Amino acid sequence: MKVFFEKEVDSIQSIAIDKLVEHPYHKEVYESSPSSMLEESIKRTGDKPIYPIVVVPNPENDMYWVVSGMGRLATLVQLGQNEVEVKVLPYPCEETVKNLIVDLNKQRIKTGKEKLMEFRHYCNMYPPKKGVRGYNRYEIIGKELNLSKDQVKELLITNDFYCGEGDIVLERIFDNTLSNNQANTLKKCVEQQLEKFNSTDVFEKLSHGNFDFSRLDYGLKHLDPRDETEYNLLKSYLTRGITLMEFQKKLEQYGKVENRVKNHEDNKIHIPSNIDEFTLGNAHIIKGDNTKVEFTNPYEKPVNCIIGSPPYGDRRTNGDGQRKETGHGMNGQEYAVYLAETYQKYVPFLAEDGSIYVIVDEYRLDNGSFSCYLEHFVIEMVKRGLFLVGRYIWWKDNPMPRSYADKDMVAGYEMVYRFSKSSNDYYCNDDLFLELDKTTIKGFQEGCTNSDKKGNTTRGTEYYQSHLKKLRNTLSDQTCRDIIKGNVANPEDFFRQEEEKRHTSTSPIYLTSTLILESTRPNDVVVDIWNGVGNTMTSALLLNRKYIGVEMEDNYFQQSVRRLITTEQWLSEVTKEVKNTLKEYTGEITPSSEFSISIPVEQVYVES
Ligand SMILES: C[S@@+](CC[C@H](N)C(=O)[O-])C[C@H]1O[C@@H](n2cnc3c(N)ncnc32)[C@H](O)[C@@H]1O
Repeated sequence: MKVFFEKEVDSIQSIAIDKLVEHPYHKEVYESSPSSMLEESIKRTGDKPIYPIVVVPNPENDMYWVVSGMGRLATLVQLGQNEVEVKVLPYPCEETVKNLIVDLNKQRIKTGKEKLMEFRHYCNMYPPKKGVRGYNRYEIIGKELNLSKDQVKELLITNDFYCGEGDIVLERIFDNTLSNNQANTLKKCVEQQLEKFNSTDVFEKLSHGNFDFSRLDYGLKHLDPRDETEYNLLKSYLTRGITLMEFQKKLEQYGKVENRVKNHEDNKIHIPSNIDEFTLGNAHIIKGDNTKVEFTNPYEKPVNCIIGSPPYGDRRTNGDGQRKETGHGMNGQEYAVYLAETYQKYVPFLAEDGSIYVIVDEYRLDNGSFSCYLEHFVIEMVKRGLFLVGRYIWWKDNPMPRSYADKDMVAGYEMVYRFSKSSNDYYCNDDLFLELDKTTIKGFQEGCTNSDKKGNTTRGTEYYQSHLKKLRNTLSDQTCRDIIKGNVANPEDFFRQEEEKRHTSTSPIYLTSTLILESTRPNDVVVDIWNGVGNTMTSALLLNRKYIGVEMEDNYFQQSVRRLITTEQWLSEVTKEVKNTLKEYTGEITPSSEFSISIPVEQVYVES
């Protein structure tokens, strides 16, 4: 055994604190910080620690390496001392100074990490030596650390395996919060699923002593701890928060969701962003500002109905939170004129017996009072030669929460105004009135655009937006639910790419469908100059009308195009189902194009 110093060498000296630096090896092995416990005891012993800080001179300059007492030094600095009494030992060689550091810190209360570092220190100090008689490496290291030779042997194997990214496992073993057996079970899993253990983070996540390690292998085979959601599920299984059966059930649900997401991703349709018009089957979508863009109509017949919901004036945005949208900064009168002028541009395209439906909601001015733009708007439309021929309320089952700030008792509705070119010679579908009179169709009464991620409305009932089944008596419940996928107010919506913004103010399909049925015949042309993500389009396509949409925002234009493709595809697939159903009622149908169906809608009503 090498000894550090031949004879008594200690000398106590007062040294300025800025000359004292922690030795790099001390820093590597130990964690030092000032302690309030030490502060009190140092105060009791005349502002000096009982055991002095130990230093060695740095052979390269006039500084000193601190080899023991960093906690004491930090405490003295905190107490405001500029100079401290230290014990100065002569500098031995670099290797010996490392041993000195560990020896001087023997009495320290150590963390798992410090114990691990000391263990490694002794492993380096006593390397394997073959053929040296009487040299038992495990025994000597064990003596230094108060461990049996078998413990040392086992720790050496574990250290070799986890050293590096798995250090946290070893630290926990030395901290006594993880057993060697648990570490061994974890080791088997690491060997089998190495790809999941590619970071320190995963070792940290999976080496908790309170886990049931007999569950680890099964859990890890099904879940990937690198994913936070999967890890949380795994954790609740490993901590026995859930039973095996519950775990399996959750895995099943999880798998279904995963598959759904995968299907959704795989089926994404990418639309080139440089197109400003898209036509397919029975719909034509134009990208542009409706006040300026050229209105192109590929159908060679006039428009029978314009349906739409303009932006909400100065009130709110359609999802991007920007305050630069149409109507922002305008008072009620200005906005009314703006809207009426916009509609005026489209009147020449409207059939003589056609209708304009405007779905509108009031907004408040900065001073708190209503803008009254609805009233002004009706007057502005009438000034431009249009007649107000219908005035409905769109009643919302699950409106936005009532606003105390706005002092509104009721806010669960919007207005729908119907205008036409003539006061009495506009087309009306009497059959629709008959159907509504039968009261089997709830029409305006159900559904709204607000629902949670699971498709439930905030009022608790299932979100069941489309009443097309009842309106047409042709579609299955499931089909009606599938249509809802188009509702982009939901995060799981079908047409929006993940990076695209969600439209927050879409019109429900039952509303636009009812208005279309009231004012048009099959194959008529329906237009929405505030297309958004195309709910009016979906209604028109499902009701076998032609559609033209105008949308300013590229983002919503893209979503609508994708929606058009999917809806037309879907329609061509269900044509068979619809055909068969219809045959029972009408005897015949004639598809008008590959992607469209020609159904005499008004003839298919039956008692339900
Ligand atoms: C209230 S939302 C209508 C949503 C639509 N009904 C739906 O269900 O998706 C109004 C839409 O008009 C668009 N818009 C606003 N100003 C426009 C303009 N000047 N020209 C064309 N579109 C405009 C907005 O981007 C928004 O998508």
